[in-house]
Amino acid sequence: MIAEIRSYLPENHPWQDQIQYFATIDSTNTRARQLALSGASHGTVLIADTQTGGRGRRGRSFHSPAGSGIYMSILLRPNCAPTELMHLTCATAVAACDAVEASAGFRPGIKWTNDLVFGKRKLAGILTELVLDPQGRVSAAIIGIGINCTQQPQDFPSEIRDMAGSLSSVTGRPIDRAQVAAGLIVAMEGMSRILLANPASVLSHYRQDCITLGNPIRLIRGDEERFGTALDIDAAGGLVVRFEDGTIQTVTSGEVSVRGMYGYL
Ligand code: BTN
Repeated sequence: MIAEIRSYLPENHPWQDQIQYFATIDSTNTRARQLALSGASHGTVLIADTQTGGRGRRGRSFHSPAGSGIYMSILLRPNCAPTELMHLTCATAVAACDAVEASAGFRPGIKWTNDLVFGKRKLAGILTELVLDPQGRVSAAIIGIGINCTQQPQDFPSEIRDMAGSLSSVTGRPIDRAQVAAGLIVAMEGMSRILLANPASVLSHYRQDCITLGNPIRLIRGDEERFGTALDIDAAGGLVVRFEDGTIQTVTSGEVSVRGMYGYL
């Protein structure tokens, strides 16, 4: 698999010798964190064929069957404060859209914050985690990306079948996972170069891809449920919402659903 992935990378790609492939792993993010603590370098890429404990946001699991998806974690050493990485998940989502467009030939949308979607179905998710040093600076950023590539509807567990899709279910054609993985490595390396240098450009691309903007949303936070309209993405990647009572607030946490998607009708 590594040889196939390398065959799709441009010659002398800076990360080409830092790719590790696992047939089975608990979670590439968990392993990347261990490697970060033992000194792994910027641009370390972990890819697994299957994960036995794939993790999603909000403590959820991420279904990671063999032969079907890309489960990748990338370790960056950005040398900055955590507050300078508020837009990291947004930047990753745009890079993942670039990678899908380059390798599968269509551009997904982004459901704020971190889901790649197409036709109301989730194709991919992102889980970013930071390792801080004793001074509180970022020692490592671990960026996990899971992309459903070849699944057909019946391959998804029944509880996510109505919401999940894959690249091949969108294109109706076979998907070469090595090509998608290489596309992701290229896009993420490019993203890592502009991440700190040009956050405004990252966020302006994010706004273009974000399907949440302009749409009715439901926010669930603890026991609270509120409805509103998504207006904008702020400079830190937060979602600016006009709620039904007319107040405008920026949402940075909680579960935001877009009407018409994932069971919110
Ligand atoms: C989500 O949708 O909530 C985020 C899903 C992130 C899944 C990826 S797969 C590779 C990496 N390893 C993990 O355990 N999770 C991320």
